[in-house]
Order: sequence, then C-alpha cells, then structure tokens
Amino acid sequence: MKLVLLYLCIICHGMATVDGARTNVSGGKPKSSGTFNVKEYGARGNGRSDDTKAFLAAWDAACKSSGQVKILIPSGTYFLNPIEFNGPCRDVQSLKFEMQGTLRATTDLRKYGNGKGWVEFRHVDGLTVTGGGTFDGQGAVSWPFNKCPKDKNCKVLPTSVKFVNTKDTVLRGITSLNSKFFHMALLGCHNFKGSGITISAPGTSPNTDGIHLEGSTGVTISSSRVATGDDCISIGQGNSLVTISGITCGPGHGISVGSLGRYNDEEDVKNVIVKDSTFQGTTNGVRIKTWANSPAITKVQNMTFDNLVMKNVDYPIVIDQTYCPFAKCDNSRASRVKLSDIHFKNIRGTTKRPEAVILRCSKGTPCQKLSLHNINLKNIGSGDTLSTCLNAKAEYSGKIFPPPCQ
Ligand SMILES: *[C@@H]1O[C@H](CO)[C@@H](O)[C@H](O)[C@H]1NC(C)=O
Ligand SMILES: *[C@@H]1O[C@H](CO)[C@@H](O)[C@H](O)[C@H]1NC(C)=O
Repeated sequence: MKLVLLYLCIICHGMATVDGARTNVSGGKPKSSGTFNVKEYGARGNGRSDDTKAFLAAWDAACKSSGQVKILIPSGTYFLNPIEFNGPCRDVQSLKFEMQGTLRATTDLRKYGNGKGWVEFRHVDGLTVTGGGTFDGQGAVSWPFNKCPKDKNCKVLPTSVKFVNTKDTVLRGITSLNSKFFHMALLGCHNFKGSGITISAPGTSPNTDGIHLEGSTGVTISSSRVATGDDCISIGQGNSLVTISGITCGPGHGISVGSLGRYNDEEDVKNVIVKDSTFQGTTNGVRIKTWANSPAITKVQNMTFDNLVMKNVDYPIVIDQTYCPFAKCDNSRASRVKLSDIHFKNIRGTTKRPEAVILRCSKGTPCQKLSLHNINLKNIGSGDTLSTCLNAKAEYSGKIFPPPCQ
C-alpha cells in the first residue's frame, strides 16, 4: 500500500515539473475551492507563445479539485492549438471559466483533428463560461479552403467552440470572432443558458453559423447579437425545449430549424420558441428547412415564432421542405420530415423581395396545424409582397399582409 502511494506521488511530482505548473496539492489531498490562474501554470498571454499546455494544466488541476472552482484567464491574448477541456470533474460543484482575455486559434489546419473543434468543453457539469473575453477563430485565412457551400462531400473546417455532453452550462458575456466554420456548437447538452453573447464574422464568410444546436434539451439563448455569414442560430436534429429570445441577427441567414432530413440517424425536433428578436438585412428571417429524399421519418413539432421584427430581409418567413444549398439535389422523393404545430405570429417589418411568406411543405407529408397570426410584411420599395404555398393548409387570424395564398 505504502509503496503504491509513494509511486503515485513520484508520478504526480514528475508531471507537475513537466508542465511547469504550480499546484495547490498538499499532502496528496486536492484543495477545496479556489482560483486556478492560467498564468500560474505557465501561460504567457503574449499572442505568440503556445499556451495550450498551460491551459490544460490549469484545467486538470481545477477539475481534480473540489467545491466551487474558478479558472482565471487574465487579460492578454493566448495563442491556442485545438484544446479539449474534459470532465467529469467529480468533486467540483461549479466551475467558472473566467475569460478576461482573448483566446486566439492557430491557423494551421493540420493541427485540427477530423471533426474536432478548436476549443471543446466536454462532459462537464455546472460550467460557467464568462468574463467578457473573446474566442478569436482567425477564420479569414481558412475560408478560401472551405468547399462546403458547393461540394457536399467537403472536408468540414473546425468549429470554434464546442460544448459536448455538458449539463447545467452558462455562457454569458462572451464574444466569438471570425470562426473558421461554426462559431459555437452545442452537442448533446442539457440545460444550457446563453446570454450576452456577441458573434461576429463578415456576411460573406462561409458556414460561419453563430450557434448550432444538436441533440440538446433545455436550451435558452437570450439577449445576444449575431452578425455572421450563415445562420445566426441553427436548431438541428434532436433538440427539444429550446427558447431563443432577444436576438439581433444580421448579417446572416436568419434563425433556422434545420437543416433536417439529410442523414439516417436524425432525431425529432420539438418544443421550440423563437421570440422578441430583430433581423437586419438577413437573407431569411425564421426558417424551417428539410432536405428532400430524406432517408428517415422524423418529426418537427410545436414551434412558435413570435414577436419578430424584419428590417430589409429577403425572405422573412420560410418553410422549405425541398432545401437544397447546392446547384442540384436529388428531389426524386419528397421529404419525410413531418411538420406539425408550427405557428408564426406577430411578425412585421420590411422585405427586400416580394416573397415575404414561403410555405413550401412536403408533398408526401404536408404540414399540419400550421398557423399565421398578425403578419405585416411590406416590400421596402413598392410595398407589395406575396405568399407562396405548396402542400400547406395554413390557418390565418388577425391582420395578414401579404394576403394568404389562394
Ligand atoms: C493556491 O492557493 C492559494 C491560496 O488559496 C492561491 O492564492 C493561489 O492562487 C493558488 N495557486 C494556484 C496555482 O491555484
Ligand atoms: C411547446 O413548446 C413550448 C416551448 O418549449 C413548451 O413550453 C410547451 O409545453 C410545448 N407544448 C406542448 C404541447 O408540448
């Protein structure tokens, strides 16, 4: 027994020396509660030196400790290779990742694992990411290598920040700049609260979705500003209980449910509210998009889009069940994604094009329980707008402009 302990101690001392880290381990017991400053673990924060190891050492020490724990990233610019912050952190009650500084991504694409993000938080409970700092994805140099807008078998560039299988996460007052691909992705998260998030990339940057959700439940995103080159927020397969509010979106492609119906293993999407948000110069406002020829039967159920302002938007209200981002897609079979209980209400403002309301439902499974209430969308030039429908029987109430499909 003694021998084993001694042996373990040699290992941990050895590791501390290798990482150049100072630890607060005394007598072999992890300390309870405390602050783990990345600078005390060797981070330089000068924007050039590789601080990846120091961040990992600080995370490991924090994760191995107990109680309420903070990882502090003081102001400065920290150059980071792809990095995974892994849990579970068994004895940690809450873990605050306080980013006062900027994290800057390497631009060397060879460093990124296939399908991996740049910064990943994985399997952590009770994580709060806050502090006013910035994730700088340095995407501009890799955007020319992104062939995804044209080629469906493209190599996907890394997402800037991923939350994977986290529980009870708060993301507050954080900026994401120029991601290479998506800015943020939530995969398999439960109970996630995002607010005061600023996302920024040029309107022309490819596939730079702001926040993408998949397989997650209990997600609220509020009071945030997204200006980017793709969807401001995209709600993919397998999500439930999602509330999006107080978003300013634009430039960008709007807030989307989808795209859905492309892969075999997709789950239903249900119980989504998008409300109290503004769209400025976006290509779409709110949109549900599903591919034709979908391999599996899935459902999109109980969606409400309420109190939305459109300013100079191309297509404010869109259901597109023949979604095809490429020049050509296989449309030989109708989409098998079933839409029901879809409600658009209190949506007003201006459009750039005449087609203000597009309800293009699947021929195979026409939309059910689709309703529109108080819609007022005028063309910025002539004022004239129109509705187009396909396999859609909508119920209308309140004031409706453009007039319903005939
Ligand atoms: C170690 O603990 C002391 C006192 O609690 C604290 O001031 C210091 O920042 C800690 N160092 C590390 C590396 O966490
Ligand atoms: C519809 O979704 C909302 C928002 O998540 C939820 O509050 C409500 O309970 C859902 N309604 C039904 C009938 O499931």
